[in-house]
Amino acid sequence: MPIPGVSVIFIRLPNPNALKAAVYSRYGPPEVVHISELKKPDPRPNEVLVRVHATTVNRTDCGFRSAEYVVSRLFSGLFRPKRPVRGCEFAGSVDAVGADVRDYTVGDRVFGYDDHRFGCHAEYKIMPQEGAMALLPECLDFVSAAALTEGSHYALCNIRAAKVKAGDTVMVYGATGAIGSAAVQLLKHLGAYVVAVAGTSHIELVKTLGADEIIDYQKQDFTKARHAFDIIFDAVGKSAFRQCKPLLKRRGIYLSTELGKHSENVLLALTTPLWNDKRVLFPIPVMRRTDAVYLRELALQGAFRPVIDRTYPFDRIVDAYRYVEARQKVGNVGITIVS
Ligand SMILES: NC(=O)c1ccc[n+]([C@@H]2O[C@H](COP(=O)([O-])OP(=O)(O)OC[C@H]3O[C@@H](n4cnc5c(N)ncnc54)[C@H](OP(=O)(O)O)[C@@H]3O)[C@@H](O)[C@H]2O)c1
Repeated sequence: MPIPGVSVIFIRLPNPNALKAAVYSRYGPPEVVHISELKKPDPRPNEVLVRVHATTVNRTDCGFRSAEYVVSRLFSGLFRPKRPVRGCEFAGSVDAVGADVRDYTVGDRVFGYDDHRFGCHAEYKIMPQEGAMALLPECLDFVSAAALTEGSHYALCNIRAAKVKAGDTVMVYGATGAIGSAAVQLLKHLGAYVVAVAGTSHIELVKTLGADEIIDYQKQDFTKARHAFDIIFDAVGKSAFRQCKPLLKRRGIYLSTELGKHSENVLLALTTPLWNDKRVLFPIPVMRRTDAVYLRELALQGAFRPVIDRTYPFDRIVDAYRYVEARQKVGNVGITIVS
């Protein structure tokens, strides 16, 4: 019974067994995502529970959320998503470890990548101890560390497939995306001569990434480049092998992050090595723990720093999705979960 003159305020205490996550239950536009509460998981013997401080919204998340390419449903669920939480990269601190975990202890600051189970758009994330995770390079904040892996592992995978070596002349088309901006830095670290292609407003940025030459595609036709290239890496999927072939040296290699206008790149990757001295490669990207350690080392050496375009608070993750899908982001879009 209310006591006259006394008002009662109900305060809902946070549930220690729950976590907040950005969830979706059907494929579609950014608006299918909303923040909800899920049960906080316990790590199994070989697992680590990470308190996620920052994550990103990237093109991988968008692709799986929208299922724009129907082929992605083979991995994420034919009719509806099997996993309700997207997000493939994270940075945070170890909150709990399973009984068999020897490589991490509670309080370690870590970053990592998981495009099998996703789940990084949440306050907590389970990682297997042998997953693609490493100690956070102390020179980076949580948002930058969270962005260390997605774009760079696509770049790394392509660079390794093409066996880039010091002195190679490489064109990076789309040098300002998450993949392109990582590719320019990783290629410079390997000693390649890098010609970057970018739009007028991003020329200064691309210079800071270390490109040796820059082609402004809004003012100049990139196919009139004055070099012959060992490798052309289209990091935004806007070119075609047919268009780039004349620019390649003998035994030159064309790489693209997209299937191509007519989905031709996979077929070309199978056929060009048979009859053509200029080849298309279309490697399947993988990210291992050793790759996370390698990226950490590069960050510590100052050889690789992810470009951060902007950062959104967790409760505005739908806006982040909308921005990334405008296809004009520069580098990476961060999400802060612990501010
Ligand atoms: N297969 C997969 O699972 C997978 C996963 C991730 C990404 N991808 C694909 O990989 C590509 C790159 O992803 P991302 O995240 O690095 O891209 P992104 O960050 O979305 O790339 C945006 C950048 O592309 C540049 N750009 C736009 N139109 C251009 C054009 N006509 N020529 C040159 N640059 C142009 C813009 O820079 P300027 O203003 O300088 O032009 C912008 O900064 C995307 O096509 C994406 O779909 C595929």
